[in-house]
Amino acid sequence: MIRPVDLVADIGEILVPEAHIQAKVAELGARISADYTDRQLTLVSVLKGSLPFMADLMRAITIPVRIDLMEVSSYGGTATESSGLVRILKDLSASIEREDVLIVEDIVDTGLTLNYLIRYLRGKNPATLRICTLLDKPARRLVDIPIDYVGFTIPDQFVVGYGLDYGEVYRNLRFVGVLKPEVYSEPA
Ligand code: IMP
Repeated sequence: MIRPVDLVADIGEILVPEAHIQAKVAELGARISADYTDRQLTLVSVLKGSLPFMADLMRAITIPVRIDLMEVSSYGGTATESSGLVRILKDLSASIEREDVLIVEDIVDTGLTLNYLIRYLRGKNPATLRICTLLDKPARRLVDIPIDYVGFTIPDQFVVGYGLDYGEVYRNLRFVGVLKPEVYSEPA
């Protein structure tokens, strides 16, 4: 895609401002710390979109945690549509057997990626497996997935920022926003 000079200028609407994200992360961190007291918590984040959320959430958690990172890519879709076909680009680096595992996701849209990931991780015999997502877009869900911790429920709009990209750009914005329509009409 054509590189924008000013990332913020491409944003039509700020959906979740930075201060709201930070307040929500603190709230989720406190809830998770209380729920997992005296347990063996491993946070598994899914690159690349969850990177800022993971970095902030783990520091909002006050109990000992281990972290691990996976990277998956969905293929066969488009820049704004997931296909449900998932390829693992980076696997876990340690066993999660008998661990309490919390998946840390940026967004659950159709749920296809997470559905694949849950089945994959269940096969590794964790003691428990729960899900935390910053953003939930339930309008587009194709598979029913129980989500234990949700930051914000958002409408059916393609969003960028705070880890989320369009054509690999906009991940470093500190808020979650919607791109101006003309950005999509430029060749990606
Ligand atoms: P799902 O499989 O449809 O639930 O979507 C999974 C992945 O698609 C997410 O982890 C994101 O990487 C990407 N995605 C879904 N919706 C959005 C969006 O609104 N903005 C940016 N990426 C998105």
